[in-house]
Amino acid sequence: MNWSDEERRWAQAAAEKIAAKMKPVTERNRDKIPYTAADGVFDDKSTTDINWWTNGFWGGMMWQLYTLTGDSLYRETAVKTEEKLDAVLMDAKGLDHDNGFKWLPTAVAHYRAEKDEASLNRGILAANNLAGRFNLAGRFIRAWNDWGNDDHRGWAIIDCMMNLPLLYWASEETKDPRFEQIARAHADTASRCFVRDDGSVNHIVEFDPVSGEMVRTYGGQGFGVGSSWTRGQSWGLYGFTLSYIHTKDERYLNTARRIAHYYLANIPENGLIPVDFRQPADCQWEDSTSAAIAACGLLELSKYVEEADSRIYRRAAMKLLTALDEKRCSWDPGTDELLERCTAAYHDEAHEFPIIYGDYYFIEAVMKLLEKELFIW
Ligand code: GLY
Repeated sequence: MNWSDEERRWAQAAAEKIAAKMKPVTERNRDKIPYTAADGVFDDKSTTDINWWTNGFWGGMMWQLYTLTGDSLYRETAVKTEEKLDAVLMDAKGLDHDNGFKWLPTAVAHYRAEKDEASLNRGILAANNLAGRFNLAGRFIRAWNDWGNDDHRGWAIIDCMMNLPLLYWASEETKDPRFEQIARAHADTASRCFVRDDGSVNHIVEFDPVSGEMVRTYGGQGFGVGSSWTRGQSWGLYGFTLSYIHTKDERYLNTARRIAHYYLANIPENGLIPVDFRQPADCQWEDSTSAAIAACGLLELSKYVEEADSRIYRRAAMKLLTALDEKRCSWDPGTDELLERCTAAYHDEAHEFPIIYGDYYFIEAVMKLLEKELFIW
């Protein structure tokens, strides 16, 4: 990709700051799997909730940093994270639609980098389990599990678009088309039932699990029904782009572009992204993760369109990334987190705190612009 001199210069400067920050951060946290930070100190999901859906991102960061620097500290930390996740592979409660988020940045990244056989085994086990969640009547991959009185049998979520690459990878690796067939069936359903005419997306769609009929939508982690949760927009934008990259099916490219155009039209002047594009006007809550994920999606999308459109996508990605760099990154090596003001869900009690996948996708975006990325998805 012919990034501009300005894009390259920014990425080089950001990479130097990332390398200077992440070495002491990783030395302090090599035995943890962080999700968030309080007072500049990472928590550790490996001791409190090994099944947590974000537990692959720390490993993914480590693989990107190892690719950037060649420092074995990062490789060792990545491998340790991957091995800890074996407990999840042995726990039905830990396996769900997010198998891709857990094993693509860990086992599959390791396999792609070094052809490690144990990593191949982990990735294929995770892919088989993900494929087993496919609802044949509704042609969707179901979200979450039911272990109490909940009934999520017919629920699907836009986030799952980012898990489909585990299935595309499994088909490439095994030469068995079933995985890709399931991924494409889910992507077709998502394109039809999640993406609205204006390019905004629903977070949750409920189907009748027996007949497969679409029943209703939910606001999920966004403001409400019909609203536009910004991280969901980003998952859709990047997820459909990835389905295009893996299948070369132009319909997915067009869907990704519709979501991207809606996102572009809603980026505020200051480049900082709210939790929901349709949240009340007096609400100022932000979600920096949405910006970082969307930037990655836009940079990928810019590679597959003509030059005039490519420039528009790249300019938007740079607006998001430079706003994060200048206003929402903690470059102090004494604090563990990189991105500030991330939000998990609009109706949660807490808002605007560090979240590990914000850090991961910011680093991934910089690696794309440097053309040094270990392709994870
Ligand atoms: N996949 C869940 C989230 O984005 O919060």
